Amino acid sequence: MQTVFDYNVLAPGPVNLHPKVREALSLPMIHHRTPEFDKILNQCLKKLQQVFRTREPAFIISSTGSGGMESLLVNALAPGDEVLGIDSGKFGERWCEMAQIYGAQLTVLKTNWGDAIKVSEVAKHLQQHPLTKAVLCQACETSTGVLHPIRELGELIHQYPQTLFLVDGITALGATPLPMDEWFIDGLVGGSQKAFMLPTGLSFVAFSKKAWTVINENKSPRYYFDIRRELKANQNGETFFSSNVSLIRALNVVLDLIFEKGYENHLSEIANRANFTRHFAKDLLLDLYPHSPSNSITALKVPEGIDGQKLRARLEEKHQITIMGGQDQAKGKIIRIGHMGYILWPQMLDLILKLQDVLSELKPDLKFEKTPAQLKMEMQAWIQHVC
Ligand SMILES: Cc1ncc(COP(=O)(O)O)c(C=O)c1O
Repeated sequence: MQTVFDYNVLAPGPVNLHPKVREALSLPMIHHRTPEFDKILNQCLKKLQQVFRTREPAFIISSTGSGGMESLLVNALAPGDEVLGIDSGKFGERWCEMAQIYGAQLTVLKTNWGDAIKVSEVAKHLQQHPLTKAVLCQACETSTGVLHPIRELGELIHQYPQTLFLVDGITALGATPLPMDEWFIDGLVGGSQKAFMLPTGLSFVAFSKKAWTVINENKSPRYYFDIRRELKANQNGETFFSSNVSLIRALNVVLDLIFEKGYENHLSEIANRANFTRHFAKDLLLDLYPHSPSNSITALKVPEGIDGQKLRARLEEKHQITIMGGQDQAKGKIIRIGHMGYILWPQMLDLILKLQDVLSELKPDLKFEKTPAQLKMEMQAWIQHVC
């Protein structure tokens, strides 16, 4: 088994692929209307329900994550519906824009970048607008690395019979606990290139019972993303449109890998990488950007006098490690490190050491307390202690 990669993709998606996934992706094509493929699809859909932690059906859509977000909107909303959109960064902004394009009467609750939404603000809005049809929120806002209080929001919104809680879990589902039924999430979307450790190209969605009532009564037009059509097809063991055979076959492998290890263990591995990064970032003089950080991704402020974009570019060029910089107002000010995907501890060690190298190169007067050799020893000890 290969353990060292030429490129180490530690971005918040896409991510490093497991060798078994790469193997599955290179298999010869089979047709999607065959008993062989039907079996794989059925297995995937059942296992996906366990990731969503729902008794309702889960779906695989051939689209990037944004298609899944659109699917939640077109199925659950109609033009003119009152919608509350939480905008805490790039992806919140995108979902609000989408809702508006579909004719929602949108109110936007904006947070400062790096802040999580306050449940009390949503509570206040719902008290004043009890007929709100949906609240839209990212679980993890990838542009800032913040984790929103999804459980508490779910409990709040559950008290409003007219309101659906739609959650963009594209960088959260499969990386952080997000039990859909238990937390009263009414529509949830995940993306293949994140915690599902696949290339980009699939989104995963599921809806609550409360949402299904709305979906079935909803008169607004939808075609590609009509989930009622997909439900019928899935009940007959197939997808409505041509199936993304290669990615679905690889998904089956990923889900087996996750459940063989145990779902909780899989989440713990990601949490360990996040804790490791937060811990050793301090030695690199990199402060945490969000106040309530997710485990999927760590966003760190770069020291004064260093351009975050240059830092990430140099890390890639000199050491073949891909992380991301900031977007919009955070451009140049932060770097973002992903913790999802197939990541081995030597790759995490390498990341910290190479970051120290590039930081020193870009700002030679930065004073690190620890030498690379000391850091390496401490990191090895940390890993031994925690794992
Ligand atoms: C939170 C979040 N929402 C939506 C998206 C959009 O997903 P995609 O680029 O797969 O359409 C992303 C992608 O990074 C994301 O992180």
